[in-house]
Amino acid sequence: MAAKIIGTGSYLPKQIITNNNLSTFVDTSDEWISTRTGIRERRIAKEETTSYLATNAALNAINDAGIDPLDIDLIIVGTMSGDYYLPSTACEVQNEIKAMNALCFDISAACTGFVCAYNTAEAYINAGLSKTALIIGSDTMSKLIDWKDRATCVLFGDGAGAAILKLNNEASPSYSVMGSDGSKKDMLICKTRSHNNLQQDIEEKPDYIKMNGGEVFKFAVKKVPESIEQLLEKSNVALDEIKYFILHQANSRILQAIAKKLNVEESKFPMNLDKYGNTSAASIPILLDELNKEGKLQHGDKIILSGFGGGLSWGSILLEW
Ligand code: ACO
Repeated sequence: MAAKIIGTGSYLPKQIITNNNLSTFVDTSDEWISTRTGIRERRIAKEETTSYLATNAALNAINDAGIDPLDIDLIIVGTMSGDYYLPSTACEVQNEIKAMNALCFDISAACTGFVCAYNTAEAYINAGLSKTALIIGSDTMSKLIDWKDRATCVLFGDGAGAAILKLNNEASPSYSVMGSDGSKKDMLICKTRSHNNLQQDIEEKPDYIKMNGGEVFKFAVKKVPESIEQLLEKSNVALDEIKYFILHQANSRILQAIAKKLNVEESKFPMNLDKYGNTSAASIPILLDELNKEGKLQHGDKIILSGFGGGLSWGSILLEW
């Protein structure tokens, strides 16, 4: 008896911004961006908010799973760009989809958000605290980016992906390796207000994302293969039994370097970052949904989901489809 994914969904904003579009207002080029990152275009929200994207991804997943929203007893959203400080994005989604029997909360784990949401929902299910959980990764990174900073603005996009996890009598348990390193918090940071305005001498306003690209690159290429190797050892599963490594879509060079380090052919590392850029917590469930809808996942397939990013944080989960 374990948790099983019974449906997936995703939703992207309508507006497409290509690399060439970007080069009209920042000093960059399609050649620079595509050779260094693999990204060719991204979706950028206009009216769409994080909760709007999350709601539509959730409705797609509910439809795919064929369940009633009232069956959902847990909603977890991985996000770092919710519409409000409060309420949570999960509560906003609950209201929109009328899942009034659910406990709702958000998880802040940057690009690792969806994997953390999966891990938490599964723990609730295994503990008997939930039977049907809706997990979502949704981010509008475009709000957190300085569109004058070419080092970061070319990398990100907006979007949402979702999955329904349900207690299943025949499902095999998944395995996970998760971790964080707060001593590297400045590698990827977006400051917001942290003081009250009674302290008149403190002048503070929300800031944009700052990133040490080289360090983040090195971290990902070290930590992700390490966590995957630990996962395989823990689960007693061989590397060649894994059908797909569904990694956070940060950058094609990161994914290629990880494939090389693990000595696995790149075709087992599906990518869609050319179309969407780095959509943070949304990237894994969007890709999962694409693979599912394309019929590329069969019952019994073993797959690994790996998230990595701000915190620094990372997490890999091995599950059976
Ligand atoms: N267009 C044109 N030139 C640029 C751009 C741009 N968009 N951005 C930077 N440059 C310039 C720099 O100013 C620098 O110029 P200089 O040599 O005259 O000083 C030159 O290009 C090289 O800059 P680097 O930062 O050294 O470029 P690098 O080859 O390391 O690539 C990149 C940068 C793509 C960000 C790389 O470090 C990387 O992939 N890092 C991983 C970070 C990542 O993916 N973050 C996503 C968020 S975190 C996450 O999701 C895990």
